[in-house]
Amino acid sequence: MPPVAMITGMGHKVPDKVLDNKYFEGIVDTSDEWIVTRTGIKERHVVEPGTGLSELAIPAARIAMKNAGIDALDLDLIVISTVSGDTQFPSTAIHVQAGLGATNAVAFDVNATCAGYLYAIHLAKNFIESGAYKTILVIGGEILSSMVDYEDRSTCVLFGDGAGACVVQRSNGERGILATHIASDGRLAKLLYRWGAGSAHVLDHELLDSREHYLKMQGNEVFRYAVRLMASACEIVMEEAGLTRDDIDLLFPHQANIRIIKSLGKYLKMDNSKVFVNIERYGNTSAASIPIAMCEAIETGRLREGDTAMMVSFGGGFTWAAAIVKI
Ligand code: UT7
Repeated sequence: MPPVAMITGMGHKVPDKVLDNKYFEGIVDTSDEWIVTRTGIKERHVVEPGTGLSELAIPAARIAMKNAGIDALDLDLIVISTVSGDTQFPSTAIHVQAGLGATNAVAFDVNATCAGYLYAIHLAKNFIESGAYKTILVIGGEILSSMVDYEDRSTCVLFGDGAGACVVQRSNGERGILATHIASDGRLAKLLYRWGAGSAHVLDHELLDSREHYLKMQGNEVFRYAVRLMASACEIVMEEAGLTRDDIDLLFPHQANIRIIKSLGKYLKMDNSKVFVNIERYGNTSAASIPIAMCEAIETGRLREGDTAMMVSFGGGFTWAAAIVKI
């Protein structure tokens, strides 16, 4: 029988510093009431400026490896999904490889915005199933506070920092990553982006003056696509896994906006009790959102061995993705 991939351990790390909605009332024209009712966010964790993503990713990885019962030298691949890594190059995965002492591992990053963690899970599943690698560390992490414009009320209240990690190995039974689906549509790139400082928008005074080195988003346009794209990805993975919504014990939607999460749950006809929400404490942590949520669900006993979880995300690009995992 061909090998099946499974998640054998997870871990996460968020910075200690917390910014509540009152903080934003002091710096932009907003209110706690607007933020809570329009987004569901009450607070988010942020690093001290100058902190590299690897400073969150390495502790998250260590917890995941401990839970999987493996050593850094067991890793043969490290894939990190991020748009806010330590350095333009080398990749953040390289910094993490060095920090962990994972000298047997190949390391590279994936850039697929908020859907990136599920893109990396898709890669890991296929690498395990093809026999290319046996023990893979997948990390979704972001320091979005490094690229948010704290003068732009329409974006600065939304985002937070964090990292979540998992170890993917061969399955020893019927547990495993049952299905994955990833998708992209570059025609929508202008709805959510950060142009600077890429090669088409080099770092100079003009770029800084135009504030194009900050993240930009047409939130209401992004919102319009979110539910439809995530719902279609969920339907694809359920069909691929031969499951229906009744077989799903817990849904992990990308934590971008409580209104999007609720609409998705309604569209999929899933009871609220089966939809995991922690956006109120973290805001939108992009690629870190789903692994942080899954870690919390495992730690609090909401997700147990034998449960079937569906994860779904979408973000800038557009990119979107879903996966079903029997834990
Ligand atoms: O993870 C990547 C994917 N990203 C997302 O999922 C984000 C998706 N979009 C959203 O979550 C929502 O669109 C937002 C939360 C970003 C915005 O909510 P909205 O209900 O779509 O509001 P809007 O952009 O249509 O703006 C409504 C009003 C505007 O004022 P006017 O023009 O009606 O006077 C905005 O200027 O709300 C204003 N506004 C704010 N007011 C107080 C925008 N941001 C704020 C704010 N505080 N922080």
